[in-house]
Amino acid sequence: MGNLVLVVCVLVVSLLSLGNFVDGIGANWGTQASHQLPPDKVVRMLRDNGIQKVKLFDADYGALRALRNTGIEVMVGIPNEMLATLASSPKAAEKWVSKNVSAHMGSGGASIRYIAVGNEPFLETYNGSFLQTTFPALRNIQNALTKAGLNRQVRVTCPLNADVYESSTSNPSGGNFRAAIQNYMLQIVKFLNDNGAPFTVNIYPFISLYTDANFPIEYAFFDGNSSPINDNGASYNNMFDANYDTLVWALRKNGFPDMQIIVGEVGWPTDGDRNANSLLAQRFNQGFMSHIAGGKGTPMRNGPIDVYLFSLIDEDEKSVQPGNFERHWGIFTYDGLPKYALNLGTTNSGVLVPARNVQYLERKWCVMKPQASLDDPQVAQSVSYACGLADCTSLGYGTSCGNLDEHGNVSYAFNSYYQKNNQLDTACKFPGLSMITKTDPSVGTCRFGLMIQPYYAGAGRTFGCIQKRWSFLSAAIVLLSTVL
Ligand SMILES: *[C@@H]1O[C@H](CO)[C@@H](O)[C@H](O)[C@H]1NC(C)=O
Ligand SMILES: *[C@@H]1O[C@H](CO)[C@@H](O)[C@H](O)[C@H]1NC(C)=O
Ligand SMILES: *[C@@H]1O[C@H](CO)[C@@H](O)[C@H](O)[C@H]1NC(C)=O
Repeated sequence: MGNLVLVVCVLVVSLLSLGNFVDGIGANWGTQASHQLPPDKVVRMLRDNGIQKVKLFDADYGALRALRNTGIEVMVGIPNEMLATLASSPKAAEKWVSKNVSAHMGSGGASIRYIAVGNEPFLETYNGSFLQTTFPALRNIQNALTKAGLNRQVRVTCPLNADVYESSTSNPSGGNFRAAIQNYMLQIVKFLNDNGAPFTVNIYPFISLYTDANFPIEYAFFDGNSSPINDNGASYNNMFDANYDTLVWALRKNGFPDMQIIVGEVGWPTDGDRNANSLLAQRFNQGFMSHIAGGKGTPMRNGPIDVYLFSLIDEDEKSVQPGNFERHWGIFTYDGLPKYALNLGTTNSGVLVPARNVQYLERKWCVMKPQASLDDPQVAQSVSYACGLADCTSLGYGTSCGNLDEHGNVSYAFNSYYQKNNQLDTACKFPGLSMITKTDPSVGTCRFGLMIQPYYAGAGRTFGCIQKRWSFLSAAIVLLSTVL
């Protein structure tokens, strides 16, 4: 019996330490959705697809609970809105670490490996709102980790957008941190380096294409069809490599040639813009996966690239301020259906595995009455009301529902509002205009969604409690049987 226990212990310990050096692909798991897939179903989906690393945008209790005992490596995020508090109060940082890290770790806990302090806090569109608080928050979280005895297992980092650096020559070798924030950047980079922590960067060729009409589209992809850029002998035919190496040069120039780099986000959206569709998203993501396979790295930095895809699942409540595509970054739809074939280089062998046992609401939709008139003065008002509160980002030129006629447009808006409100009867009462149908109005690429059952975090907590008691009980049984 003793031997068996020893073997089991060695096995568990080696599995745990394996968990600390996971290679392979990671994914961002965001939760800004009106109807979240339950965390246990998401975790099951991660495992089914061989995804070994996740990045969370906050310390979501349900997600962290579901990730316990899975060996999946976790990066836990701290939202920008918390930076000021954490910067000004070491006590608040200690509480954050205690409640949101320590409480989830330990044996049978979650494999929290990184804390992401802030999310792109130096983004130019934030006008410097977080410039003063990011570094002190980072330092206070690091100190809190040290105090909690977790500083060897857990590293801090700060996911930054690639707009924190630029190139004077427009070649990677001209790279340096943006002049206006150079001092803030060096303070952070030095601190990360001193603590053996990585630099985390988000790289988005899609955004370059979206914001610059003259961006050469082939340069966004990995097919080698763009005319290569020669940078002192290093040849670049895709933007990702060039952008990554601009960072490598910026770090090198400032005295950090070997600093570890994590790509916190990379991906391509599937809707909400003429360049956002499944075909291009597949081309980008599959091209990227093949490009980094085999760990050959970039011209300036050989070796495997540590990366988290953006993102796992669509989120229908993300701000559309960056663009309508913002709600469509998932490799899976809101209900856990794969959008296209994707070989993740894991056990998934080319086909994404959908979420299992997803519970939907009843099969019914809210549409515009066929006999209702588009000239009815209520139409415009109703559509703008529905779209304002629900999600119409799949309507418009070049989108998945861009070919609907006007009638179809109105129906789409009504249904989105109806589903988001859990098919409440009162949510399909647009005066004289709407009706409920049991016939799926989806057509071609345009999917009229059917909402999934709402998930209540509160219910999860109770369940967690029962589960904890149960595992205590089974631990006691195991202990008892070893004694006997
Ligand atoms: C833990 O994280 C959650 C989610 O980000 C946050 O709302 C909460 O305030 C944090 N707890 C503490 C004690 O800081
Ligand atoms: C940044 O400044 C611009 C122009 O002054 C303003 O329109 C925008 O709302 C500001 N954004 C934030 C996040 O403060
Ligand atoms: C449908 O709605 C979208 C978004 O509001 C609009 O751009 C498009 O022109 C509409 N199509 C028709 C046929 O009215």
